[in-house]
Amino acid sequence: MRVFVADHPLITHKLTVLRDKNTPQPTFRLLIEELMTLLAYEATREVRVEPCEIVTPVSPTTGVRLSEPLPLIVPILRAGLGMLEGMVKLVPTAEVGFLGMVRDEETLEPTTYAERLPESLAGRQCFVLDPMLATGGSLAAAIEFLFARGADDVTAICVLGTPEGVEAIRKAAGDRRVTLVLGALDDGLTDQAFITPGLGDAGDRLYGTV
Ligand code: PRP
Repeated sequence: MRVFVADHPLITHKLTVLRDKNTPQPTFRLLIEELMTLLAYEATREVRVEPCEIVTPVSPTTGVRLSEPLPLIVPILRAGLGMLEGMVKLVPTAEVGFLGMVRDEETLEPTTYAERLPESLAGRQCFVLDPMLATGGSLAAAIEFLFARGADDVTAICVLGTPEGVEAIRKAAGDRRVTLVLGALDDGLTDQAFITPGLGDAGDRLYGTV
């Protein structure tokens, strides 16, 4: 598994405002989307393309276009939904599938409550979006789900991660092709398995405590 942790002053600046407990919900939503767009640049570095020919107003030339099957973006509901627009802005022709997962606050076990994905993901490059990689249970289950459907290349993009979460994903990935892109690697987990210093509950800060 390959792991990339962002190292850019603009990302750190936006993350600082995101972490601040006094940042209001509209600003929080905007920042999650903006951070996603900045992380998408790194996450799509190996997006599959094929050569193509075009004609500019001046002369014929060659370039590249995204290969078929087109990439599949998979936000993990709820919090991953806040990252979707930021990703779609950069890859507007990608398809979007959905996975709904919730972590039991006591056992920390993830449950899948919704799924809308193509039956077969054979040959697909998948980009999984979830702002928080805490214990890694939810993302590991999502990655497992995608490989079980035939995906052969999964890139997960998280705004914040922990060393424990990264190790859980490394274990789940085994020798399969998985890339993890993080906005920052935080210190670890609290007793309630919240990322510390973290930013609190991303789902609640985006959508409220429903
Ligand atoms: C949060 C977060 C991740 C998961 C991380 O979701 O968005 O999906 O927990 O924890 P883990 O790495 O320990 O599995 P939550 O279950 O709170 O659902 P929500 O997005 O609907 O708020």
